[in-house]
Amino acid sequence: MDDQVFRVGIIGVGRMGADHAERLSRRIANARLVLVSDPDSARAEAVAGRYHGVRTASDALALIADDEVDGVVIASPGSVHEGQLLACIEHGKPTLCEKPLTMDSESALRVMRAEHAKGRSVVQVGFMRRFDPEYERMKELLGSGRFGRTLMLHNTHRNKDMPPSFRSEMIVRDSLVHEIDVARFLFGEEIEEITVLSPRPSSFAPEGVVDPQVSFFRMTGGGVVTNEVFVRNQVGYEVRCEAVGETGSVIAGRPATGLYTTSSGVAGAWGGTIPQDFRARFERAYDLELQAWVDASRAGSVVGPGAWDGYAATAVAEAGIESLASGQPVRVALVSPETLS
Ligand SMILES: NC(=O)c1ccc[n+]([C@@H]2O[C@H](COP(=O)([O-])OP(=O)(O)OC[C@H]3O[C@@H](n4cnc5c(N)ncnc54)[C@H](O)[C@@H]3O)[C@@H](O)[C@H]2O)c1
Repeated sequence: MDDQVFRVGIIGVGRMGADHAERLSRRIANARLVLVSDPDSARAEAVAGRYHGVRTASDALALIADDEVDGVVIASPGSVHEGQLLACIEHGKPTLCEKPLTMDSESALRVMRAEHAKGRSVVQVGFMRRFDPEYERMKELLGSGRFGRTLMLHNTHRNKDMPPSFRSEMIVRDSLVHEIDVARFLFGEEIEEITVLSPRPSSFAPEGVVDPQVSFFRMTGGGVVTNEVFVRNQVGYEVRCEAVGETGSVIAGRPATGLYTTSSGVAGAWGGTIPQDFRARFERAYDLELQAWVDASRAGSVVGPGAWDGYAATAVAEAGIESLASGQPVRVALVSPETLS
């Protein structure tokens, strides 16, 4: 499709879907938004109405089947991803699916098996940190051998606030899943064991919700990853990753040096300000992610994290939810890729 514009349909136009609609319409080259669908029809109409020539589809399956749609962005809740992914695979349409791929490893396996059976990869998973210039550079530096072997990662992931419906398991499945992918990406290895601890909860956490959470991953090569995820810190969106090698370390997510303060009610400072949410911090990463998806799809290929990465991350999150309940380390059991066929 060298000369043709890539025509995109978006399923689910809440926060992420509307954000993707905006970037597709204003900042992404060689692509055009043509169709949106959302069970909240007023929301779908409102998003479609912002851009010239965008229609609404009656539902997700109609959008996927539409002849005018070359590729699909899935930005609906994770609980409905599986059926939508299976339909995209059936129609052979390139798909950028927001994380998590699906809700558990069994459903993720069904998606992977369906893609495998079709004999063609079409799924990219929305782990946008892989496209963030800092994380990309970090990966390059670690790979260059300049710091010797990578021994540890220390991740921090904080949000200002979340609705009360964001329960303890979602902190693992929807938030920690980004650190799960970062660890797999930076080490280039799988996670073989996860432990999720429950420190004293913040008084801002709803009754029964474990927030913050501290977790550990053991990588297949023996490296260790520590994670703090705190989704109601009352301050803002802070995402940092420090990789420690044998002869040096590298940090992503630290904009400037200087005195570092955070406090609720006032903008935190470290020589710069703390973004209020993920869209501000990772705006460039989302742009690069979507452009890479469009470019690869037009060329008939898939880049970045694929269905295997989505499956592996889901399996680790599933083990993490088990560990959250018991406080004990849980081994991660991944199928061997040969069993897919
Ligand atoms: N990559 C990231 O950094 C990031 C950040 C936030 C959310 N997400 C992911 O994006 C997805 C959407 O999250 P959100 O924050 O935009 O949620 P949201 O609740 O703001 O939006 C979801 C939208 O999907 C619609 N919807 C519900 N069921 C649907 C269905 N069956 N078909 C089509 N649409 C349906 C809802 O009406 C809503 O408009 C989730 O998978 C979430 O985990 C990713």
